[in-house]
Amino acid sequence: MHIQSIKLGTCLLRQTIQPINSIAKPLLYSLTQEAWSDPNIKSIIEKSIIYGNFKNTPEEGKSFLEEMNKLCNSKISEEEIYLRLQDFFKSLQKRCDLNSGFTKEREERVQRRINQLHELLGNFKPTSYIDVGCGRGDITKEVQDALALADQKVLGLDVVVNNSLPIKVLQFDGKKIPLDNNSHDLITLFTVLHHAEQPEDLLKDIARVLDPSGYLLVREFDAPSRELKLFNLVMDYMLYKVYNPSPDVPIPGNYLGYKEWLEIFKRAGLTVEKIIFPEPDNPYKPFMALLKKI
Ligand SMILES: C[S@@+](CC[C@H](N)C(=O)[O-])C[C@H]1O[C@@H](n2cnc3c(N)ncnc32)[C@H](O)[C@@H]1O
Repeated sequence: MHIQSIKLGTCLLRQTIQPINSIAKPLLYSLTQEAWSDPNIKSIIEKSIIYGNFKNTPEEGKSFLEEMNKLCNSKISEEEIYLRLQDFFKSLQKRCDLNSGFTKEREERVQRRINQLHELLGNFKPTSYIDVGCGRGDITKEVQDALALADQKVLGLDVVVNNSLPIKVLQFDGKKIPLDNNSHDLITLFTVLHHAEQPEDLLKDIARVLDPSGYLLVREFDAPSRELKLFNLVMDYMLYKVYNPSPDVPIPGNYLGYKEWLEIFKRAGLTVEKIIFPEPDNPYKPFMALLKKI
């Protein structure tokens, strides 16, 4: 995947990115089967599933991987692979308590995120905070508590909004933030940009809403190679088609290397103040960038 200029009609209209699931033709029946047939990608998927998702229940993790192996080696569609995996996962859930492992892993992840937030923000004390792509809002709530912000100073936004979240949430179209210019001095985007159809446009609108004295904090994955893009794609499918089926969450496949993200930030009118690569052993290779409006 490259950052490219695409031709619309005869004129060059805009720079855009081409997501892996639109340009990369699978070598096998599907991108998932291609990923599984590559020993390097297969190995990072397996490790992420066993040591991440199924951390507390490795036996169930092993049987889940055996099922995945069987399905990926069959001549069935990608959709069918994930539907059958979803059924298999549900049957495992009935047999044993997988939830405690998944919950514990999530709690550890949230705690790490708060430590990283402190590391990046230092003594900065925001007055009004929005979390774009807040998902279930648990991280937003933890950030609120860590920064001692009152409820009315915190808002989550997402394209998909579930009931009973721990914060106030606004649904939006994923492109235009329905808030005033310069109205918030802390905005976070935690692993959201690769889900956005047009991340650069979203960033431009976020820059509009960001107060010039404030910060945007972005967490994304550094995925410059085809291997890492395919790994990310399979793990996103796993999350949104198997563990926690959410058909409305977009998966356009916008996985980029961090250098490509830095270019996009610049084009969106944002400048990087700090960047960290906080979890070197994490196969997703996350980075976190603290940005300001230019
Ligand atoms: C990987 S989840 C991250 C959720 C949360 N930020 C976290 O760290 O747990 C990605 C979230 O981004 C949302 N999303 C997808 N496209 C979006 C867009 N264009 N703008 C805002 N949120 C979007 C999805 O609905 C999903 O809740």
